[in-house]
Amino acid sequence: MARRITGKLVIATHNPGKLAEMRELLAPHGIEAVSAGELGLGEPEETGHDFRSNAGIKAVAAAQAAKLPAFADDSGIVVDALDGAPGIFSARWAGPTKDFTAAMTRIERLLQERGATAPDRRRAHFVSALCVAWPDGHREEVEARVDGTLVWPPRGTAGFGYDPMFLPDGHTRTFGEMESIEKHGLPPLGLGLSHRARAFVKLAEICLEPR
Ligand code: IMP
Repeated sequence: MARRITGKLVIATHNPGKLAEMRELLAPHGIEAVSAGELGLGEPEETGHDFRSNAGIKAVAAAQAAKLPAFADDSGIVVDALDGAPGIFSARWAGPTKDFTAAMTRIERLLQERGATAPDRRRAHFVSALCVAWPDGHREEVEARVDGTLVWPPRGTAGFGYDPMFLPDGHTRTFGEMESIEKHGLPPLGLGLSHRARAFVKLAEICLEPR
């Protein structure tokens, strides 16, 4: 039986966008979210070899430092024809200036070098790993993905990161062409389409009181 989250939860992120998204998702469940940034907590080095372990490293570090349950996520895009790259290095491929046009161009160049022009050679998926860690060492972990195809040139200006080149299966518009509610929104308002929305639904099922 999974452990339930009650009361205060540290969101182990220094990213204001992720914090706002989590606050919105948690508020209906009566959870008060405080961020690692607000508590002055440092950012641990992400030394894991997969999304799950990096989410765990961030959640455990925050739970130990704050002596409160802590939530962390790790995510990225996995391109089949590139042997899974950029994967856990998705943020790093954009460099210190967070230039995702450059990161998408790099993916496209590598796909072209491999002759990956047909849609079935351009399969990719986003992954979201979520971890809640408690100060006593207990952890709850979930992971979800959304599958799709990479298009070129990128389409749409909504979203962030690799959204404009990702066409989710069963849709005709890229994540960059979708409203946020369509991409991330949870049922009944949205489709629960993104990797993060899907992972959150799984986490809510096991760790949160029903709304
Ligand atoms: P994280 O902060 O280490 O989880 O970095 C995740 C990186 O993966 C982001 O900087 C984006 O580059 C990419 N990424 C994760 N989720 C998405 C998404 O929903 N759309 C576009 N890019 C994403």
